[in-house]
Amino acid sequence: MTTEPMLRLQGVSKRFGAVQALTEVDFDIAPGEVVALVGDNGAGKSTLIKVMSGIFRADSGSFWFDGVERHLQSPAAATALGISTVYQDLALCDNLDVVANLYLGRESLTVTRLIDEPNLERDATMLLRRLAVSIPSVRIAVASLSGGQRQSVAVARATIGEPKLVILDEPTAALGVPQTRQVLNLIRRLREQGLAVIVISHNLIDVFAVANRIAVLRLGRMVASYDAAESTGEQVVAAMTGAFDTGEVEKVMSDPGAVELDLSTDVLPANGADHRPGPTGGSAP
Ligand SMILES: Nc1ncnc2c1ncn2[C@@H]1O[C@H](COP(=O)(O)OP(=O)(O)OP(=O)(O)O)[C@@H](O)[C@H]1O
Ligand SMILES: [Mg+2]
Repeated sequence: MTTEPMLRLQGVSKRFGAVQALTEVDFDIAPGEVVALVGDNGAGKSTLIKVMSGIFRADSGSFWFDGVERHLQSPAAATALGISTVYQDLALCDNLDVVANLYLGRESLTVTRLIDEPNLERDATMLLRRLAVSIPSVRIAVASLSGGQRQSVAVARATIGEPKLVILDEPTAALGVPQTRQVLNLIRRLREQGLAVIVISHNLIDVFAVANRIAVLRLGRMVASYDAAESTGEQVVAAMTGAFDTGEVEKVMSDPGAVELDLSTDVLPANGADHRPGPTGGSAP
C-alpha cells in the first residue's frame, strides 16, 4: 500500500507489574485499509488497542497520527483525533432503545431527550440505513435485538462523529453465521467510506474474509504481518503459535492435516472464553 499511514506506532512497550504485555511493537494502518490483529489469548491485542485508544499510556515508543507525533493523555484525546473504539464488552444499555444507545453520552443529551427527540430518531435511521444495518425499529430496546444486530449498533455508534480510524475488539465473537456476515459487511462499508479499521478476531475465516492485512502478536511482540491476499491460514497459525521459533513450521507445512483449520469455530482453544459475550451476543452485566 502506497498511501501514507494514518496511524503509526513505533517501538511501543507496556508492562503491568511483572507482565511485559507489549515489547517494542511497530504497527501502522492507512486510510481505506482493514488490518486484522490476531494472536493467542494474552498476546497483547487488547492492550495494544487500549494504547491506541488513550486508555493505557505506553511505557516507551512513539505514536504518530496523520503524520504528527502525539502523546495521548486520555480516551477523549484519541476521540478528538478521530479514533473510535468498540471494546470487547460492548457497553450497550439493554433497557434503552437503539436511538438512545447510539447517542448516549454525546453532546450532553439527557435521557428524556434521547427518548423523545424526533431529529435523533431520523438521524439514527439514516445512519443505520447508510451502513445497511437492518433492525426491526430504532425504537426497540437493545435487549430484544439479536447478537449481530447489537454488535452492528455498537459499530454504528462508533462511526458517529466522523472518526478516521475505527477499532473493533472481537466484533464477531459468539455470533452466528448470518450475524457475522452482517458485521463483516459493515466493516467493508466503513472501508469503502475511506476509514481505517482495525479488527481483533480469533476467527481466521472472518479475518481472511475482511482484512487487507493481518498483523500477528505473539507474547507481546509483533511477529509477522501478512498481505491477506498472499498468505494462508497455516502461515498465520504458525506465526500465532510460534512454530517459526521452533522450526515446527516445516512440519506444519508438510503435514497440513496437523493444523487443518476447523472452519466452523475459533482456531484457538476455548480458554479465552472468560471475557467473551455469552451465546446470545452478550447482555450487559
Ligand atoms: N490492566 C491490566 N493489569 C495487569 N495485567 C494486564 C492488564 N491488562 C492486560 N494484562 C496482561 O497483559 C497481557 C496481555 O493481555 P491482553 O488483554 O492484551 O491480551 P489479548 O491478546 O487481548 O488476549 P485475549 O485474546 O484473551 O483477549 C496478559 O498477560 C494480561 O494478563
Ligand atoms: Mg483481548
